[in-house]
Amino acid sequence: MQRKGIILAGGSGTRLYPVTIAVSKQLLPIYDKPMIYYPISVLMLAGIKEIAIITTPHDQEQFQRLLGDGSQFGVTFDYIVQASPDGLAQAYLLAEKFLDGAPSAMVLGDNIFFGNGLAQMLANASAKSDQGTVYGYWVANPERYGVVDFDEAGKAKSIIEKPEKPASNYALTGLYFLPGDAPERAAKVQASPRGELEITTLLEMYLHDGLLQVDLMGRGYAWLDTGTHSSLLEASEFVRTLEDRQAVQIGCLEEIGYNNGWISSEALLEAAEKMGKSNYGNYINQIAQSARTRR
Ligand code: TTP
Repeated sequence: MQRKGIILAGGSGTRLYPVTIAVSKQLLPIYDKPMIYYPISVLMLAGIKEIAIITTPHDQEQFQRLLGDGSQFGVTFDYIVQASPDGLAQAYLLAEKFLDGAPSAMVLGDNIFFGNGLAQMLANASAKSDQGTVYGYWVANPERYGVVDFDEAGKAKSIIEKPEKPASNYALTGLYFLPGDAPERAAKVQASPRGELEITTLLEMYLHDGLLQVDLMGRGYAWLDTGTHSSLLEASEFVRTLEDRQAVQIGCLEEIGYNNGWISSEALLEAAEKMGKSNYGNYINQIAQSARTRR
């Protein structure tokens, strides 16, 4: 069964108030494009074409206006509402029908990944449909995240949500490859003392059954989260620095769709026109033109 994708883009974004009172966090700009483009690009780089976008009820319309049915990128988007932000594991309950037994890759709508070899790393995880894969990333402040405890052989022993005394500096990133039974298992997750269905509880179940691999995402990769005003600005600076220096776009969904063979060069031209005089539009136009001269 083809792996399907989930972008979890609800939440309340209270750490970004007042910015996120009237606008969803995942629609805020990260330099030159909306935040949600970046997690979508990760799923597309993993070769995933069927993607569910989970939003709050009141933000759904804006996401639909921005992203439509996905055909402009060669993918399909399904929209699902999360009535209240009851935790990350709830996504699997909400997406049960959409997944229909398929293995999944879920990425949090406010996580940005970048690095050489990312597509290969994702393909490796995607190829294993009977077990889960998640990623540990060395951070300075692990107590803010789910933290992985490893045994002497380097095998993950446990994952603890926001521990006071972290067992390691390895935080779990917001990217989860799970087998087809994730909704079934998520149904068994009990709410934590803070009232959320924790993804770490779900992951612990897989770990306990020997069905979860925790790979390390090395320092050659950037994993940025954008939940605070500072990290939001830093992520924008990061994208700007790389894009200006290398004259490439990070998270250009039309480019990835084209490279994957999912849309034609004509579709690129059409998309470029819609983007007006923006750099994003010029960039797509350039790709379309060079595709034409290559033919
Ligand atoms: P968080 O950063 O944990 O929460 P938040 O986005 O609501 O922000 P704040 O802590 O400032 O109030 O969420 C991580 C990502 O997961 C983010 O993209 C929002 C999303 N999310 C949901 O879609 N539903 C949920 O129930 C939760 C908890 C988060």
